[in-house]
Amino acid sequence: MASIRWSEAMSVGVARLDRDHQILIGLINRIDEAGEDETTRNRVLPEVLAILIAYTVFHFEREEKVMRACGYPNLGTHHEEHRALTREVQELQRRYRRGDPDLGRNEILTFLVGWLNHHILLQDMDYRPHVEGSKVADAAAESHGEFDLGTLLKFRAPEEGEPA
Ligand SMILES: [Fe+2]
Repeated sequence: MASIRWSEAMSVGVARLDRDHQILIGLINRIDEAGEDETTRNRVLPEVLAILIAYTVFHFEREEKVMRACGYPNLGTHHEEHRALTREVQELQRRYRRGDPDLGRNEILTFLVGWLNHHILLQDMDYRPHVEGSKVADAAAESHGEFDLGTLLKFRAPEEGEPA
């Protein structure tokens, strides 16, 4: 059972951005689908968190490109919100790496579901009227290209004791 399911009500009116949101949802659901055993704790969680953070940064850059292209008036505020959201999820990753005993799989999942819902349903809905159905928005979103492993490696610092 998926923790979050994408629905039309979550559409921001730009297919490429909706696709990004679906990918982020898919990553969060991977944590839900994994068991509560040692493998999840030691392999699935760190892997998903690293990819989620890298993809989030990539996605926020795409969104800001679209907002800029469409002359969205609240770009400055939205950019600050993106920075705050990135810091929140990076802090979660740091706590996890430090072995915070209060941070099990379920706590991480609850945090991420709330975090993404807040981003899509509250913050992104604000730009929707400015970008919906716009060819300029589509072109700007496409111009950001595809996420690749190189992007991931750039953002993922090696963990302690791990060969660089
Ligand atoms: Fe978004």
